[in-house]
Amino acid sequence: MAKVLCIAGARPNFMKIAPVMAALRAPESPLAVRLVHTGQHYDVAMNERFFEQLGIPMPDIHLEVGSASHAVQTAEIMRRFEPVVDEEEPDAILVVGDVNSTIACALVAAKKGVAVAHVEAGLRSYDRAMPEEINRVLTDQLSHWLFTTERLAHDNLRREGVADENMHFVGNVMIDTLFRNRQRAVAAGETFARAGWANTRLAAGAYGVLTLHRPSNVDDPATLKRLLEVLRELGADLPLAFPVHPRTRSRIQAAGLAGYLDGENIFPLEPVGYLEMLGLMRGARLVLTDSGGMQEETTALGVPCLTLRENTERPITIEHGTNTLVGINPERIRACFKEVLTSGGKAGRVPELWDGRAAERIAAILAGDLAGAAPGTACA
Ligand code: UD1
Repeated sequence: MAKVLCIAGARPNFMKIAPVMAALRAPESPLAVRLVHTGQHYDVAMNERFFEQLGIPMPDIHLEVGSASHAVQTAEIMRRFEPVVDEEEPDAILVVGDVNSTIACALVAAKKGVAVAHVEAGLRSYDRAMPEEINRVLTDQLSHWLFTTERLAHDNLRREGVADENMHFVGNVMIDTLFRNRQRAVAAGETFARAGWANTRLAAGAYGVLTLHRPSNVDDPATLKRLLEVLRELGADLPLAFPVHPRTRSRIQAAGLAGYLDGENIFPLEPVGYLEMLGLMRGARLVLTDSGGMQEETTALGVPCLTLRENTERPITIEHGTNTLVGINPERIRACFKEVLTSGGKAGRVPELWDGRAAERIAAILAGDLAGAAPGTACA
């Protein structure tokens, strides 16, 4: 039986790997599948809670790398993954997204002649200052199967010399997870009550959701301060629920900016689970974020999203979805925020093939190529 090692390491990987694991381990699957967790994210709130809520099987192999600089983290994942490949002798490995775990494992496998499947291939921000952009470009160069979420990704890949026969437009596995769990979303009021905000403006029902964690937004104290200043000001019009990523929390504390999370306009929360975040986004008037995944999730939910970045690797969320790039200029953030409150924001529509069946398409292609099973029919 052909064997595939699936890799997950960081929070945004978990909602992508969940449907892929389920499809690859479906009763009729001709593939043997093992899950490797690199341990890039390890806090309960960033890790275990997602496994529980999404029904991801316990990892078969855990590399327990933890946090470090990019070079050390990537190198450590590679060092620990190499003996796993030697021992397991997989026919292929499957990586998702663009985090350090993605490139580290892809590089180890490619050098050992093991074929790499990349889920969410071809996305490009064309901003090499983003560590994820470097991870994307390199992982795609090393991959045999490039599974894409939008057609524009194929143009990006062609430009980089990737052959058409290796690209497969399958849709969006993150949206598979969203559709599968929409009914189970935890109501926002419950999350606010648990965080101690039960009797505040936030709990009254009209609120926005804020997330920030990109190094470009949170690592420079002056940029972070400018952002928090305008966001606190806008929070007077619409209170903002702010689940705070661990790296952001430490940057805010180090820069002496904790006072901006005042519990009047900006309401800090511990990082929330998947079902809580889904409930928060679904009930929000708008979402302000620098996350990649939330640009897609808000598009699928039909909730306006203002992206606090100068570029996006997910242009379809702008063309077809509810997303607007607002950057980090306070004037523009203010103007776009007010515009959404007045007009209700972009209506948007759900992009092509974001239909909850992307993981099935991936499984059908891998089964066809690795085990000679009949290839899937649903792939465009
Ligand atoms: C990583 C990904 C990013 C993704 C994000 C989502 C890379 C290059 N970046 O960024 O693409 O959007 O995950 O969360 O892979 N920390 C904890 N507990 C944890 C994990 C991290 O406290 O469980 C803290 C540590 O201080 C750590 C810092 O967060 O140094 C950064 O973690 P790291 O995994 O390096 O990158 P993220 O910023 O989480």
